[in-house]
Amino acid sequence: MKLSDLTFNPKKCFIGGKWVHPASGETIPLLNPSTGEIICEISRGTKTDIDLSVTEARKAYEGEWGKFTAIMRGRVLVKMSQLVLEKVDYLAELEAIDVGKPLKQAKADAIALGRYLEFYGGAADKIHGETIPYLDGYTVYTLREAHGVTGHIVPWNYPMQIIGRSVGAALAMGNAIVLKPAEEACLTALAFAEIAREAGIPKGVINVVPGFGEEAGASLSSHAGINHISFTGSVKVGSLVQAAAAGNVVPVTLELGGKSANIILDDADIEKAASAGANHCFMNTGQSCNAPTRMLVSSENYERAIAAAAEVANSTIVGAPEDEGVKIGPISNKAQYEKVQRLIQIGIDEGARLVAGGLGRPDGLSEGYFVKPTVFADVTNDMTIAREEIFGPVLSILKYETEDEAIDIANDTEYGLAGYVQSGDESHAKDVARRIRAGQISIN
Ligand code: NAI
Ligand code: MG
Repeated sequence: MKLSDLTFNPKKCFIGGKWVHPASGETIPLLNPSTGEIICEISRGTKTDIDLSVTEARKAYEGEWGKFTAIMRGRVLVKMSQLVLEKVDYLAELEAIDVGKPLKQAKADAIALGRYLEFYGGAADKIHGETIPYLDGYTVYTLREAHGVTGHIVPWNYPMQIIGRSVGAALAMGNAIVLKPAEEACLTALAFAEIAREAGIPKGVINVVPGFGEEAGASLSSHAGINHISFTGSVKVGSLVQAAAAGNVVPVTLELGGKSANIILDDADIEKAASAGANHCFMNTGQSCNAPTRMLVSSENYERAIAAAAEVANSTIVGAPEDEGVKIGPISNKAQYEKVQRLIQIGIDEGARLVAGGLGRPDGLSEGYFVKPTVFADVTNDMTIAREEIFGPVLSILKYETEDEAIDIANDTEYGLAGYVQSGDESHAKDVARRIRAGQISIN
């Protein structure tokens, strides 16, 4: 990937259909996590740029975009989807250098972005209200309408996927949007603006302002001119965003963290289940909100599961996105790398049994934010590594005696995003799944 291949100037924001320098005149260095080197400078957007974006979005919403029929919105989204799919390799290279994802994963993410836009494009003219029986002489019906101007704050772990589902849905309904990508990874957000323009989205419908969370992000979430905000990221910032939105009485959609349990039942194929669980936990270098980070195994099958998970950790190839056979890349940024190292140290200090990986970089990697895929056994649910989201390739394996105990451990968490059950018997798995208090449960 050469910077000369970029179809936009990364030092600019995209506001009102134009590439403009941020009001601050300042930039933020964007680092390649595989080397720690600067890729390029990105704009340091602040309140002034957010204000301008909201004004431009409002104009679009009240103007040309507001007059688009649902069918027209659907078509432009489908056009965007086609352009994304034509540019999968380009987008994947941007995401790979910026986030550190292996090219295969980055490609899958680009395809997912295309698919989200296609899905929402198809949905645009199929979202409708209801008629409601009421008193004689009344015809009561509901209409599904846009919020108006929506704000979207996106993190660095899956920029394209999160943009696809958050912005895609908002555009399908006719909202005009202001997008604040993460300061650690924003190249594909900028490329997305360029693609939207190419697809014929009117000016002002999509505005992209890179910048720090405390500056551009906080200005967006507290802006009186937005009508809805969607946020994906940490619990701490999610609650700040929610409070800021409450100040303007606007609704929020939050996707925060997880510490999801993966219950391996005794009737599962233990080795297969433990390997699949470990692989899933390490995917995207563990930087997934729904990662199955707490594996629960009965005392009877405990050591077998540990051996299988350790085997996965020891054979997972870690490296830069373009390296041969790489399964997982570096951690995406320095702060996150330090957090993962700190939590591995805490796991050791609190007495968990380290069975694979550990502190430091994998052999042969002397620079970049690379972490060893790590497995801790003998983790108890009160340990920090069982309670805190690590957001790195670190698996905790816990022991249970009875199924009831497994379910209690699974539910003993502050989170509730996802859950996993593995079993050889589908109805058994469904019964256990039903008892896990989480938003999304996967079986086998
Ligand atoms: P973060 O929550 O600080 O960042 C996410 C987004 O929010 C970024 O675009 C950032 O610029 C923005 N932001 C930060 N402060 C803000 C503020 N005051 N107002 C408005 N926007 C703000 O997450 P961070 O620091 O990158 O990662 C910390 C932890 O959060 C991770 O270790 C992980 O546990 C969790 N996380 C979860 C994600 C998920 O997919 N659910 C994604 C990223 C992080
Ligand atoms: Mg942060």
